[in-house]
Amino acid sequence: MRIDIMTLFPDMCNSVLGESIIGRARAAGKVEINTVDIRDYTEDKHRRVDDKPYGGGMGMILQAQPIFSCFNAICEKCAEKPHLIYMTPQGKTLTQSKVKELAKLDNIAILCGHYEGVDERVIDELQPEEISIGDYVLTGGELPALILADSISRMLDGVLSGEECFTDESHYSSLLEYPQYTHPSVWNEREVPEVLLSGHHENVDRWRRQQSLLRTAQRRPDMLKNAELTDEDKMYLTEHGYTTI
Ligand code: ADE
Repeated sequence: MRIDIMTLFPDMCNSVLGESIIGRARAAGKVEINTVDIRDYTEDKHRRVDDKPYGGGMGMILQAQPIFSCFNAICEKCAEKPHLIYMTPQGKTLTQSKVKELAKLDNIAILCGHYEGVDERVIDELQPEEISIGDYVLTGGELPALILADSISRMLDGVLSGEECFTDESHYSSLLEYPQYTHPSVWNEREVPEVLLSGHHENVDRWRRQQSLLRTAQRRPDMLKNAELTDEDKMYLTEHGYTTI
């Protein structure tokens, strides 16, 4: 998988992409993530990429030409045309199922918006998929692009150490993750649940499943409708006062 992030702030992205799991995955060639400076593609002799909005108003608008040329340059380097995504609070909210869908692609390009927005004509021309990371507004699309690149990368083969790393986790199976504990077994007079110290794997698995069910029912009941629940799961939730469909 190759991901190209189109941004005015490549250093901001590179500092995050060089660290931890994603940094190691890139170094090992499990995922290729490039940051591409939109400014390198401006035809303006002063390297400008933005201008005042027609009709007046606050802030500056990213111009169409540098973005268009930047995307075309990326296309030329890819075997097939990348799927273009524009990070914007006006897009569809990112979900784990969208992440899974995108992780199947070979080439993705992500456009980070900045300032007050992007000239609408380049959006009309390139028809990107518009994605938001939530109903709040950030100063730019870099953090959202990094979130998207991270969430996709961790789904790729060999990026995490084992499949269990993500099959167990929150949202993967439409259930929230069970609580986790580590040493010491008593901290601030708080004890680790006894079942986890028992060494009885079947009981541990059952307890964890039940904790996931309870947490989801309490915190995110909307997720339960997408979860695959066994008869035992449903019985457990009913016994604890939660209704299932
Ligand atoms: N740019 C600014 N805010 C954003 C958001 N919530 N999601 C995606 N891109 C953004």
